[in-house]
Amino acid sequence: FIPPSSGTGGGGLTAKDAIGNDIIVSDFLANHNPGDRSLVQGFKGDPTYIVVTEDKQIENYGLNAVCTHLGCVVPWNSGENRFICPCHGSQYDNTGKVVRGPAPLSLGLVHAAVVEDKVTLTPWTETDFRTGENPWWT
Ligand code: FES
Repeated sequence: FIPPSSGTGGGGLTAKDAIGNDIIVSDFLANHNPGDRSLVQGFKGDPTYIVVTEDKQIENYGLNAVCTHLGCVVPWNSGENRFICPCHGSQYDNTGKVVRGPAPLSLGLVHAAVVEDKVTLTPWTETDFRTGENPWWT
């Protein structure tokens, strides 16, 4: 295992695909549809979803895909418009807000921004826009 390098030097991390290559946004958007949620390598190697918006941009937040119950990676289910954990059935809405337990908390947030055709992830330390609460993951 080779840890992903930490990218930009500005406290951000360049999102990488499953084989460790930087995501190139122009290529990525050419191959993804509005509403897609795709796994990339995020902080600490955690699988992290980046989201394609309705106007085919990279959404300005990403979601840590690790279930807040016992840590399974939660798949996106486009038909249900939810993330549904295969381990014990927790569900999260399309923003990662928990809507069915046993998971106690929503999926963690990161900021996502496009810099020089790559996706830069930075820690989300502000209020959770989905719950109005302080982020539990910092
Ligand atoms: Fe996801 Fe238990 S690990 S519901």
